[in-house]
Amino acid sequence: MRIGIVGWRGMVGSVLVERMREEGDFSKIEASFFSTSQAGQPAPSEATEPTLLDAHDLQSLAQMDAIITCQGSEFTKSMHGPLMASGWKGIWIDAASSLRMDDSATIVLDPVNGDAIAKALDEGKQTFVGGNCTVSLMLLALGGLFEADLVEWVSPMTYQAASGGGARHMKELLKQMGELHHCVAEDLSNPASSVLEIERNVTAKMNSGELDATEFGVPLAGSLIPWIDSPLQSGQSREEWKAQAEANKILDTDTPVAIDGLCVRVGALRCHSQALTIKLKQDLPLSDIEGLLANHNPWVHVVPNTPEATRAQLTPTAVTGTLQIPVGRLRKLAMGGEYLSAFTVGDQLLWGAAEPLRRMLTILLA
Ligand code: HSE
Repeated sequence: MRIGIVGWRGMVGSVLVERMREEGDFSKIEASFFSTSQAGQPAPSEATEPTLLDAHDLQSLAQMDAIITCQGSEFTKSMHGPLMASGWKGIWIDAASSLRMDDSATIVLDPVNGDAIAKALDEGKQTFVGGNCTVSLMLLALGGLFEADLVEWVSPMTYQAASGGGARHMKELLKQMGELHHCVAEDLSNPASSVLEIERNVTAKMNSGELDATEFGVPLAGSLIPWIDSPLQSGQSREEWKAQAEANKILDTDTPVAIDGLCVRVGALRCHSQALTIKLKQDLPLSDIEGLLANHNPWVHVVPNTPEATRAQLTPTAVTGTLQIPVGRLRKLAMGGEYLSAFTVGDQLLWGAAEPLRRMLTILLA
């Protein structure tokens, strides 16, 4: 199959290409690399053509059997419609959010909705879009409970990494961390220094307007921001709205499951974490719940509810750069036997973005 890759130089695109190299995907396809700005320049070694093709050239795109794009919503909005209108019969695989809720689009997360993806392909559907990162990570973690139709509602409270904003956001966070450290470095190295004075200096720096906060608007280092994406009439942020809308689309439920909570940006680099309050339809023993969760897919694993296991396995530090989906802090809440708490962590760039797209490509190749 001829596969066109667009937006492969960006952060999600780079992670995608890295994963495709790791899995040997390039040996199974004829890859063409497209660029919105550097057509004609040398292409990566995996490319069939020696040079980059023009991502805005409909005819070049139309030669592809499938196009996988991490270029972003602007590119999708400008090229997807005209390409489909031209009678192209290929498959469009997209990381951007703009087409996700379209009736013609299937959200891809094959360990959860592999059957829906197969059905959509059978029906001749052409548009397959990766889900919002927190949604995909939550569904992989709780897949066993959803599959058994045990969930009445879920309230996810998120702890989202800087990477969800983009590459510049990650750099901004790290620069802020460095500057905050720098302003008290001398005091920190003096064992007799007062921690309250150090804190006052750090807080003053954070409020001084001197820290570069171009991307986040306010300092994130040493702080957090309980708002992600644009405001909606409902009082939700768009990120919060996506949880219920996208999860139910992926699950293709007859009766929508209520899923709503607060989304918070924290100073993690590339792992999103979520504290989940789950109302179950039945008061099941915790061991049954753990069994259902652990057996749902090869990447999820149940972390024992102990401080040692939690610290070792259930942090962004432990999970970053891996495909693991640990779920822990599992216990019944004081509200009653149907109320379950859980905490899960996942790499926002892998299962949260690139991996569902890469796996959609391998489904096409099978
Ligand atoms: N919107 C998400 C975030 C990332 O800002 O963390 C993309 O799914």
